[in-house]
Amino acid sequence: MKIAFAAPKLPANGTVAVFVLEDCVPGPTAQSLDTLTAGALSRAMTASRFKGKRGDVLEVLAPGGLDLGRVLLLGIGKPSALDVLGAQGLGSTLAAKLGATGEEGATLMVDAPEGLALPIADLAAQIAYGALLRSYRFDKYHTKKKDEDKPALKKLTVAVEGEAAAKKAFASLEKIADGVFFTRDLVSEPANVIYPESLAKQCKSLEKLGIEVDVLGEAQMRKLGMGALLGVGQGSARESQLVVMQWKGGKAKEAPVAFIGKGVTFDTGGISIKPAAGMEEMKWDMGGAGTVIGLMKALAGRKARANVIGVVGLVENMPSGTAQRPGDVVTSMSGQTIEVINTDAEGRLVLADALWYCQDRFKPRLMIDLATLTGAIIIALGHEYAGMFSNSDELAEKLTVAGKATGEGVWRMPLGDAYDKQINCDVADMQNTGQDRSGGSITAAQFLQRFVNDLPWAHLDIAGTAWSKKERPTVPRGGTGWGVRLLDRFVADNYEGK
Ligand code: BES
Ligand code: MN
Ligand code: ZN
Repeated sequence: MKIAFAAPKLPANGTVAVFVLEDCVPGPTAQSLDTLTAGALSRAMTASRFKGKRGDVLEVLAPGGLDLGRVLLLGIGKPSALDVLGAQGLGSTLAAKLGATGEEGATLMVDAPEGLALPIADLAAQIAYGALLRSYRFDKYHTKKKDEDKPALKKLTVAVEGEAAAKKAFASLEKIADGVFFTRDLVSEPANVIYPESLAKQCKSLEKLGIEVDVLGEAQMRKLGMGALLGVGQGSARESQLVVMQWKGGKAKEAPVAFIGKGVTFDTGGISIKPAAGMEEMKWDMGGAGTVIGLMKALAGRKARANVIGVVGLVENMPSGTAQRPGDVVTSMSGQTIEVINTDAEGRLVLADALWYCQDRFKPRLMIDLATLTGAIIIALGHEYAGMFSNSDELAEKLTVAGKATGEGVWRMPLGDAYDKQINCDVADMQNTGQDRSGGSITAAQFLQRFVNDLPWAHLDIAGTAWSKKERPTVPRGGTGWGVRLLDRFVADNYEGK
């Protein structure tokens, strides 16, 4: 969908959306339309359950006295309560409603009622952003859907006083949306399309935005001693890859902020194979990598003034005659050895080498990894928050703040020696699972921490948030793009030296 900004001039025909405040108080444009239609809009509100609450919508078709085909009354509730996330939600509601009308274009009149919480330009931009995020679809594999069954809306014009300022505020939001959409696309693609080499190629496409991209194949990783990552991929016919993305938007000598993603393009479980039911969902197991890749796109797209590294470990976890066995011992790049108790606890093996490589090569100021790491985090937190584990209160706080601001929440979980002991092992330096299933997300995080030296680090377990079976306000079903907005904000608020 295209978004355009224009001066606040009512179009003569087509569809127009206007603000109505709490208790059916019309905004300025709604008021004048009501007058022009001899009270048709007021009567429509009275005749319905529309109350002007935020998110209420009422469609008035072909109101007499106007050439407009449709007036959408958009409830905004109390103007003073309309914050950034509320405005995005409003845009999302609008896009959903407009999508169902069959119209290809529509105009939203953004008025300034008394007491708005946000500057009007920001309000307009955030509504547009919410509409854009909601309009995303992943429908490329539908070849038979009829046009009338698809949302038709192609262009939303946001009409607002001072449209240049709104347009400017929207410009960087649109770049973030590009990143979110890239992540959603990559995560939703099936595993016969997205496998380590094809995903690495997608990373390469970011070079046109000024990101430096290096791809390491198996031979290079073997030289570096990445036995943990390579063991996971050894049963697959597809070659494992490690991709390094560098965005140098900050000062030349400034240590980078680093993001590391689990990119298991398909997780069968390996020899410790998963049950058949639901296994198709494991195409989403590259969600951590997907978020890191989309984040890099967003940051480069809006030319973030920070140095940022993205490292993604890309493997396919398959059972085969060459696959790793339970009981195998692998040596990680750090030199630490690992007994592989369960080949389905593969994400931590991939991250062990990706984290080590990243900190060894780049000496980053901090590292944040993202991974669809454990089913246990879904048991703990459902699909509402990602689990956050960190060795730094300060970093955890920054992420919590960015999460609240973007609606992509993180919930801190504990780390500690008592958990760490559970991955001690008779045979090797550690094993890749705990003694039993208890605290499964925590023992996984403890495992990762053994590959992090003395620098601030956070691990986000996004198994519950990387994909969704349920539609949410600005998030469709399928790949959610979770984390791109959060981490973009985290970088913007803390590392762009304003
Ligand atoms: N990719 C899975 C975790 C997962 C499960 C993500 C369900 C999304 C939905 C991970 O590789 C895995 O299989 N973890 C195991 C670990 C166990 C074997 C210690 C799990 O969570 O069961
Ligand atoms: Mn697994
Ligand atoms: Zn996995």
